[in-house]
Amino acid sequence: MVRVRKQSILRRFLSSGAVAVAIVASAFVSFPAEGQDSQPPSASDIADGMRLYQQKGNCQACHGWAGDGRKTDSQMPDGANLRDTKLNRAGLVTTIKCGRLNSQMPAFDKFAYSDGRCYGKKEADLKAYPTRMPDPPATLQQREIDLIVDFLMAKIVGKGQMDHAKCVEFWGSETDACKEFPK
Ligand code: HEC
Repeated sequence: MVRVRKQSILRRFLSSGAVAVAIVASAFVSFPAEGQDSQPPSASDIADGMRLYQQKGNCQACHGWAGDGRKTDSQMPDGANLRDTKLNRAGLVTTIKCGRLNSQMPAFDKFAYSDGRCYGKKEADLKAYPTRMPDPPATLQQREIDLIVDFLMAKIVGKGQMDHAKCVEFWGSETDACKEFPK
């Protein structure tokens, strides 16, 4: 009798141990969030993102090539300093897709205000804001937005003020753009 009980306690202990092991093990397995790359961006992803930032998205017209808010087009609105942003990856993605309500930051998702996906608002709701979001220079696919955010995280966000050394690293060589920064 005693012996049987001991065995069953042992068995119970073992099985609960197995459950604990499974729980601990599952904590170490990471499931990539939807729409997020499971691997760190490659150098070519970052280069693609940089090109999209400069050309198709024309982010630099308002935010500057260095993302520091020194816009490259004086006719354009003053963009935020992205080097100092407190936004995380998800916040950056949302801001690019949806723009910023009541500001001059455009929405780059083609369907941003067609189905409530952005801040629960539709086209008609936007009229309520004194400042209207401008049309984006081009709309961007999710994949393109992810690449731009890869570039921002790698080269812009939290990188401090641009200086000569960072400029050379940014462009990959000593370019004219770096002449304005003292060595
Ligand atoms: C027409 C000008 C314009 C263009 C083009 C533009 N932005 Fe902006 N952006 C702004 C302005 C203005 C703000 C500040 C909005 C506010 O008042 O909060 C802003 C804000 C942002 C923010 C939020 C920063 C923060 O810390 O809150 C991010 C991120 C951003 N822009 C990224 C981009 C990216 C990436 C692109 C290109 C795909 C882009 N912007 C294109 C004008 C622009």
